[in-house]
Amino acid sequence: MRPEAVVTMRRTLALALALAGLCAQPAAAVDGQRLYQEACAACHRPNGAGIPGAFPTLAKSKFVQGDPKEPIGRVLHGRGGMPSFQNDLTDADIAAVLTYVRAAWGNAGKPVTPAQVKVLRGLKRETPKAGILAH
Ligand code: HEC
Repeated sequence: MRPEAVVTMRRTLALALALAGLCAQPAAAVDGQRLYQEACAACHRPNGAGIPGAFPTLAKSKFVQGDPKEPIGRVLHGRGGMPSFQNDLTDADIAAVLTYVRAAWGNAGKPVTPAQVKVLRGLKRETPKAGILAH
């Protein structure tokens, strides 16, 4: 994927999240399914099946359902064509979206807590980029 496309996606995501923020939900009530559809489904598809050869399937993936550190790290830091979400999503957002992903489409992974995300975010603290969204 071209870098401009990723930047455009990140802008679209930021806009979607800003709009979602207007509906001011308390952090504890983040809707993981809705966040998935807004932030992840464009690549991993609404049914989690991905696009073979481009975007890996999240449905029935061992990586997704296994040690929560792995998917948390991937969402925080990205890799290859997968954008980093550390500046766009809060600990509660990442916990909610991964809790959804780990339990949807026949997956059976344990829920992810904001505290688990917080620990991993703290481990690899890079100089924060000017965030698209002011947190
Ligand atoms: C712009 C497209 C794109 C978006 C948006 C995106 N991903 Fe990804 N994702 C990828 C790509 C590409 C990979 C494979 C990266 C690699 O390993 O090189 C990936 C890999 C992953 C993996 C690892 C899967 C495995 O088995 O290796 C997880 C988990 C994941 N993404 C979750 C998410 C979640 C959750 C979101 C939303 C918060 C998201 N992704 C948004 C493109 C995307």
